[in-house]
Amino acid sequence: MEQKPVPRHIAIIMDGNGRWAKKRGLPRTAGHAAGAETFRRIANYCRTLGVEYLTVYAFSTENWKRSEEEVGAIMKLLGNYLKEALRDMEKNHVRFRFFGDLTRLSPKLQQLCAEAENKSAVFGDVQVNFCLNYGGRDELVKASQAFARDVAGGKYTPEDLTEELLASYLYSQNVPDPELIIRPSGEMRTSNFLLWQSAYSEYVFMDVLWPDFSPEDLDQAIAEYNGRNRRFGGV
Ligand code: IPE
Ligand code: IPE
Ligand code: MG
Repeated sequence: MEQKPVPRHIAIIMDGNGRWAKKRGLPRTAGHAAGAETFRRIANYCRTLGVEYLTVYAFSTENWKRSEEEVGAIMKLLGNYLKEALRDMEKNHVRFRFFGDLTRLSPKLQQLCAEAENKSAVFGDVQVNFCLNYGGRDELVKASQAFARDVAGGKYTPEDLTEELLASYLYSQNVPDPELIIRPSGEMRTSNFLLWQSAYSEYVFMDVLWPDFSPEDLDQAIAEYNGRNRRFGGV
């Protein structure tokens, strides 16, 4: 049987942690802990499949609306994961990048993100892009501000702006657009994820809750992607 190639770039909206916990009579924070374990497993699996980029939505610009306790628990899990990633870096060879406005994170977490990004820059078995305090609209606003500053500074005129130039101001600069975006948990919306980059991505929505998401579910999403006819506006 002919082996279809895996997408170069897969993006995942890691959703459903709270419902997973509720179903078990557990606090929402237990769902986030289980979701973090799923992320470890899926990131590893992507590496073995040869996926080049894995972008995960971990915390949105809207998620601050949640209780202090829940936000604190998510931040703690992220910190723990990054410490572990820094410790295992030589073994895993994962490269990290962070998409989002990190200035709102604690100084300690910002430090861990900077360290993970800098120290892992030499690796490239798979690049994990962590979306933290990320919003697609916020990303476009920040890119617009940066371009406006460059116009004011005389580097560009407004007419210089092209799709390529705008893309270079996004968090995702130098990362190809995701071919496949997966959203588990049954919700069918983007929730402000990768608005620019997803223009021609294939979406796969799945009913499984993120903590239950398995490598077989990823295989299934990739199989569905491989069956799609991508026309990009052509015929
Ligand atoms: C996704 O799971 C994790 C974050 C948004 C941080 P949720 O916490 O949104 O889980 P549900 O959607 O309430 O089940
Ligand atoms: C999207 O999930 C954000 C992340 C998974 C980090 P949400 O649970 O926040 O999205 P909505 O509220 O269902 O749209
Ligand atoms: Mg949710």
